[in-house]
Amino acid sequence: MEIKIINALPEHVRQIREISESLKFNQEKPKCEALITVLREREYTERTRLSKYFYVAVEGQIVLGFLMAFDDKTYEELLRRGLFHHEEIVPFLNNNEKPFVYWESFGVANNKQRAGVGKALINRLLEDGINDDKKIIHAMIRHEPYKNNASINFTKQFGFQYSGIDVPSEEYTHGIYQKTL
Ligand SMILES: CC(C)(COP(=O)(O)OP(=O)(O)OC[C@H]1O[C@@H](n2cnc3c(N)ncnc32)[C@H](O)[C@@H]1OP(=O)(O)O)[C@@H](O)C(=O)NCCC(=O)NCCS
Repeated sequence: MEIKIINALPEHVRQIREISESLKFNQEKPKCEALITVLREREYTERTRLSKYFYVAVEGQIVLGFLMAFDDKTYEELLRRGLFHHEEIVPFLNNNEKPFVYWESFGVANNKQRAGVGKALINRLLEDGINDDKKIIHAMIRHEPYKNNASINFTKQFGFQYSGIDVPSEEYTHGIYQKTL
């Protein structure tokens, strides 16, 4: 069956959460390629409603992976409504040139990785960002305690560069990566 990249809808949220849970960083079994944040159902659902830069890769009804991003207007709305939790990057985003896109999360189901699903998702984000005249995409990638090298390798291939800025939170430090569109 054909794999399609489409906008994420509320009906995809359950599967997006399941994939995120399965990829979650586990302190007891630390793995470099892992997600830190799994949001609550309502937080994903609101992002599907507010953002046109939140995509899923689907094969029929099955979600294989997702890429969740939003522009500065959606960021401000989420912040205002207490639905944005990465406080450590707020000062950085608030002082940034607009219009930007913030790439918040990204994951492909374990048994579907290394098959080009992530590549199809990022290509869609880049295409839409360019068509909509966005200036820049910002992303945070974990540097400490375990550097997410898979993600760094991935984003570099699509033209993202390390900004030289690290943002620490209580348990982790993330580096900010950027791509000018
Ligand atoms: C990062 C992730 C989304 C990539 O998705 P994917 O569908 O496997 O990626 P693709 O198959 O499109 O890979 C494209 C290229 O990225 C690079 N890449 C992908 N996974 C990699 C890995 N584990 N290690 C090193 N490079 C990797 C490779 O260069 C790959 O090309 P190749 O397979 O021809 O060598 C996926 O590995 C994932 O879900 N990881 C766990 C969650 C995570 O870390 N999310 C990001 C948090 S910042």
